[in-house]
Amino acid sequence: MQKKWWHNTIGYQIYPKSFQDTNGDGIGDLPGIIAHLDDLAELGINMIWICPVNKSPMADHGYDISDYDEIDPMFGSLADMKHLIAEADKRGIKILMDLVVNHTSSEHVWFQKALQDPDGEYGKYYIIREGKDGKEPNNWRSIFGGSAWERIGNTDKYYLHLFTKWQPDLNWENEKLRKEIYAMINRWLDMGLGGFRIDAISHLKKDFAYQNLPADGVDGYVNGFPYFRNVKGIEKFLNELKRETFQPHDAFTLAEADDVPPEELEDFIGENGYFSSIFDFCHTRYHVNDPKWKDRPVEMINDLRDALFKKQEYVNGSGFLCNFLDNHDTSRSAERFIPRDNIGYHSMSTLGSINFFFPGIVFLYQGQATGMRDYRKKSIDEFKDPTTFNMYKGYLQEGMTEEQALEKLNVESREHARTPMQWNSRENAGFTTGTPWFAVNPNYKEINFEAAKNQEESLYHWYKKMIALRKADDYRDLFIYGDLIPAYEKTDGVIAYKRSNQDRSVLIVCNVKGTSEKLPFEGRVKKVLLSNYDNVNIGNRELSLREYETIIMETEK
Ligand code: BGC
Repeated sequence: MQKKWWHNTIGYQIYPKSFQDTNGDGIGDLPGIIAHLDDLAELGINMIWICPVNKSPMADHGYDISDYDEIDPMFGSLADMKHLIAEADKRGIKILMDLVVNHTSSEHVWFQKALQDPDGEYGKYYIIREGKDGKEPNNWRSIFGGSAWERIGNTDKYYLHLFTKWQPDLNWENEKLRKEIYAMINRWLDMGLGGFRIDAISHLKKDFAYQNLPADGVDGYVNGFPYFRNVKGIEKFLNELKRETFQPHDAFTLAEADDVPPEELEDFIGENGYFSSIFDFCHTRYHVNDPKWKDRPVEMINDLRDALFKKQEYVNGSGFLCNFLDNHDTSRSAERFIPRDNIGYHSMSTLGSINFFFPGIVFLYQGQATGMRDYRKKSIDEFKDPTTFNMYKGYLQEGMTEEQALEKLNVESREHARTPMQWNSRENAGFTTGTPWFAVNPNYKEINFEAAKNQEESLYHWYKKMIALRKADDYRDLFIYGDLIPAYEKTDGVIAYKRSNQDRSVLIVCNVKGTSEKLPFEGRVKKVLLSNYDNVNIGNRELSLREYETIIMETEK
C-alpha cells in the first residue's frame, strides 16, 4: 500500500457553535478554536474537522449554506480562517472544513433565482418537478420527517429536500452546477486546507423514476433510501469530484457515507477510491436503552463487537475506515454503550479503547476525552434542532404521550452532543462570558477539561496515552498497516484484538462489562503498554480482568 501523509491521523471534531466563544455573544467562534490549538496539540491531535462555518441562516446549524465563499460572521471572518489554518499548521495540525454540497440553504442566491424562475437556468441547479393531482410528485419522506417535497409558492411545482425544507437538494446531473462546485472547492483547497469532511455524499444521485410507494408510516410517506442513497450512477459524480478537486491537491477526504454495500467499499476507500476514508455508522445503532437490549447490556456489547469486526473484515486491509465513537449527530457514546450506573473512568476508558487501535484513522469528538455526558431536558422547549421537533411530532402522531416522547428524545436526540464544551468550573464552564446559545450541562463543576487534565487518573490522560502509543516510533507502522486479528470473540462482553506485523504483536483486551472475567492466555507478555488499573493480573495461562478493565500489551511473536 502506498503510504500517505494522513495515514497516521488522530483527528478531533469541533462543533464550532459550542466550542469556545471569545466575543461574549454566547456562540463559539474561530478565534476560540485558535485559542485552544495548544491544548489539542498537547493531546496529540494532528487533524481538526470543523463542522460548517460558512455563511448560513442556521436552519440546520450551518448545514444549510447560503454562501460557500464566506465565513458566517457569528464565527468570524475569512481572515480568521486563514489565521487558523496557519496557526494550526505551525503545530503540525491540518484543518478540514465541512463540505456540504448535496444541498444549499434556501437562502442561497442560486435558489432564490430558482424560485423566481423555476424553469430558468438556476431552476436547473435544483430538483424541481410538477406535482401530481395537486399533491407532491411522490410520497418520499424527508430524512428529517415530513414530505421530501415543498411547493413553490402557488405554482404546481415542488422542489426536493432530503433534509429540512430550508435545504433544497442540488441537481448533480447538471454539469454547469458541478463545475461551479468544483471551482469553489478548489478555491478553499488553494488556501491550504488539509481537506474536507464531506456531508451526506451518498445522496448525490437520485433515482429519477420518482415512484410513489406504499406508505410505511402513519404520516402517509415512505422511506425513499433505495431511491436516493448510494444509487447506481453516483460513481460518475464521485470520480469526477475527486479528479477535479481533491486529487490534484493531495487532499484528505472523510466522507459521510452510510451503509456502503461491502462489495463497493473498495471503490469508496480502496487505493484508488473516491475518498481517503469514510464514516461508517454500523456501531452507532447500539444503545443500552434500546428495547432490543434493555437490561441486557452484555448482549449489546457482543452485538456491537460483531458489527465492528464484520465491517473490518469487509474492508480487509484495503482501505481506512474512520474509527470514532462520538459525533455531533449522536448522543454521547458513554450514554449509549454503558448502563448509567456503571459510567465512570474505568468504563469510559475501556469504551474508548474498543476500536481505537483498529486499522483506520481515529477521530475524537469535542468533550469525549473530558467525559462529557448527555444533558437530559425537562421540556421540549429546551431543544434547538428542527430534527428534534420533527421527531417529537412524529412520536406524538404515533400515539405517544408528551412525557413518553420527551423521554425518547432524552435517549436519542443528537443535540446531547451539542451542549457547550466544558472547559473549567467557572461560570458557563468557561465557554462564554455571555449567555450560551444552548444550555451548559450543570455537571460542569465536576466534569470539565481543566479538572480532567489536573487529575492523574482521568479519561483525558487515558486518551493522551493511547494517542502517544499510536504515534510512537516503535508502534506507528504496526497500528497503521498491521493485521487485525479478533480475539476472545466468544467471550461475553469482551472486545479484544491483536495487531500484528512481521516484527511485533500487540494485544488489546477490553472487558466491557460490570463484572470480572478470566481468560485463558497462552502467550508471553513482552511489555504491558497501557492498563487502566494500577496493576495487571496476568497469571500462568490466565488473564484476570476486573470490571471494565483494559490491558494493552506487547506479546512475543
Ligand atoms: C450532518 C447533519 C446534517 C445533515 C444535513 C448530516 O449528515 O452530519 O448534522 O443535519 O447532514 O446536512
